[in-house]
Amino acid sequence: MTDPNILSTRRDGVLALELSRRDKKNAITTGMYAALAQAFELASTDDEVAVVLLRGQPDLFTAGNDLADFLSPAARETPAAHQFLRAISRFPKPIVAAVGGPAIGIGTTMLLHCDFVIVAEGARLQLPFVQLGLCPEAGSSLLLPQMAGHRLAAELMLLGEPFDAIKARDAGIVTAIVPESELLAHAQSLAERLARQPRDAMLTTKALLKRPLGRTVTEAMEEEFPHFERLLATDEARAIFQAFLKKRSSAR
Ligand code: COA
Repeated sequence: MTDPNILSTRRDGVLALELSRRDKKNAITTGMYAALAQAFELASTDDEVAVVLLRGQPDLFTAGNDLADFLSPAARETPAAHQFLRAISRFPKPIVAAVGGPAIGIGTTMLLHCDFVIVAEGARLQLPFVQLGLCPEAGSSLLLPQMAGHRLAAELMLLGEPFDAIKARDAGIVTAIVPESELLAHAQSLAERLARQPRDAMLTTKALLKRPLGRTVTEAMEEEFPHFERLLATDEARAIFQAFLKKRSSAR
């Protein structure tokens, strides 16, 4: 399964997966989730891939889930987003993320499953689930408090305001903050460095690092899904999605 908005390239053991739908701020559709899920699943057993680099462009990671898809029952019933989240959370090889510009909703929660998160100085992360009438997903209800502590996790999730690279670092989400112009080169060179590490030792170490929370993360995701699905269908959430899309089309 491929999607024109997911670009995939491989160099020196690094599989780069690029979100590329700039006209819609890289909002992720069902087709994009399916392509990402499959790419991760194939990469997990492909000996030519040592590391995955997840990226957008230096000034844009992603505006999160496509809000038009949230309104479509057909899109909601497809398990593609769940499949992607399961694939990324169980991926056995290192994942490096390069994040610049907006990283909203799942654009932030997917980072909690990455091993290295390189963030550009002007990045703007956001967890606007409550503002949208939704609740956390991707195991973030477990992972964020664990990384950031309850106080900061509550602020970021209950208020849902955008936050900058420094606050993201305070929340334990960020490995390094770099100038936007250096983002991709920095992330690629880190990924290549990881790809040169002894493979078995690296995979064993990642598995050991992930082991304490492994089953608990899966349980948290499974517990979040039905709440998220229920909230997606409420009149309150649907009115918020419709208002966002209408505002954009009537602004022309
Ligand atoms: N789903 C679907 N379309 C989206 C989108 C999303 N999540 N985010 C942006 N778009 C679309 C807009 O509808 C607009 O489309 P149009 O040109 O056909 O009208 C286009 O992308 C550009 O967006 P715009 O809002 O005009 O760009 P901006 O630079 O002013 O703002 C963002 C960028 C990312 C801050 C803003 O688009 C935003 O807040 N998006 C929604 C984020 C969100 O709530 N995501 C869901 C998380 S669960």
